[in-house]
Amino acid sequence: MLRSRLSRIGAGIVKELSRGQCTATCRSSFILRPYSACWRPQVELHPETKGFQGTIFRKHFQFSSAATSNDSANGSDSEEMISITFVGKDGEEKDIKVPVGMSMLEAAHENDIELEGACEGSLACSTCHVIVMDMEYYNKLEDPADEENDMLDLAFGLTETSRLGCQVIAKPELNGMRLAIPAATRNFAVDGYVPKPH
Ligand code: FES
Repeated sequence: MLRSRLSRIGAGIVKELSRGQCTATCRSSFILRPYSACWRPQVELHPETKGFQGTIFRKHFQFSSAATSNDSANGSDSEEMISITFVGKDGEEKDIKVPVGMSMLEAAHENDIELEGACEGSLACSTCHVIVMDMEYYNKLEDPADEENDMLDLAFGLTETSRLGCQVIAKPELNGMRLAIPAATRNFAVDGYVPKPH
């Protein structure tokens, strides 16, 4: 009884803490995974009991409750991957696999792709600027928040399909998306601005 009550409290806390931050499309699994850059709490439910395990404040994390068809089928923690192509400043293309729920900035960094991300995803720069090469995919993205639009206004070489890589989160509909990395970025950090994590 106590255990079930604790579980309910835990679930309530998770819901509260993740409100408005979880961007994954599938909520059938409640394991929250980190993928981006912020001072935010990391909360996990125990994979079997679904009980609340704890909250750890860590830098560079947001929430994702991405789940896969396998997750729902057999309860495993395997990740669904999509294919993304980055086109570098020199036109060189690199195809990578990205887990659903991960930001394009983090995916780029994990694959040694040169996408700067000076503020590490806290929406205080425009150095993670990417250009979605196909309008069809651009239209599948969530609308940018005001903060993202503010930063995009400062981006070098802004286009109609520009987005910030740290705000583009992998989801199944984006499978096959191509992203171009602009030839230059404006880095406010080198002009004396020091972004603060939030
Ligand atoms: Fe600074 Fe994306 S890394 S806004």
